[in-house]
Amino acid sequence: MWLYEKKLQVPVRVTAPDPRMAKYVITQYGGPEGELSASLRYLNMRYTMPTGKAKGVLTDIGTEELAHMEVVATLVYKLLEGASIEAIKAADLGAHYADHDRALYWENAAGNPWVAAYVSATGDPVADLHENLAAEQKARAVYENLLHLTDDPQVKDVLLFLREREVVHFQRFGETLMDVQDHMQRRKFY
Ligand SMILES: [Fe+2]
Repeated sequence: MWLYEKKLQVPVRVTAPDPRMAKYVITQYGGPEGELSASLRYLNMRYTMPTGKAKGVLTDIGTEELAHMEVVATLVYKLLEGASIEAIKAADLGAHYADHDRALYWENAAGNPWVAAYVSATGDPVADLHENLAAEQKARAVYENLLHLTDDPQVKDVLLFLREREVVHFQRFGETLMDVQDHMQRRKFY
């Protein structure tokens, strides 16, 4: 079960509405390397991890990714809030507006909806942990791409925080992979 804490993991502020940046950032909401993909990937994979510790790491990180999804949602919402229709059209968000107004939707920067095919689960803990290591590096890279697309220091602060957490997750998955490999080797000898 989850307990909800009514605050964001990091404060989210924007200097001014920026629908073009909203269109880019939404990919970390519903794109392949985004926070929905990450949270569902880890919370789903944890069942087939061979140790309680590995299950715990996937639960912890999957839960934190849900909190990141909330941070990204807030950032996109604030970038769109108060934007004029003209600015929304100029940012190539007219198609999004037609279907969703200023509501959030799980899509990538090109407007393609989220699909379960973004998420893998093989049942092999070593393969799955490698998938997670790659996922964290890809999420870090996308946050860096997004950092290149904005000059707003407040938006940069949020993106930098999220980028840093991906680095921490990568390290935790690396340690978990070593633990799981040790555990599996021990099983062969006894
Ligand atoms: Fe992560």
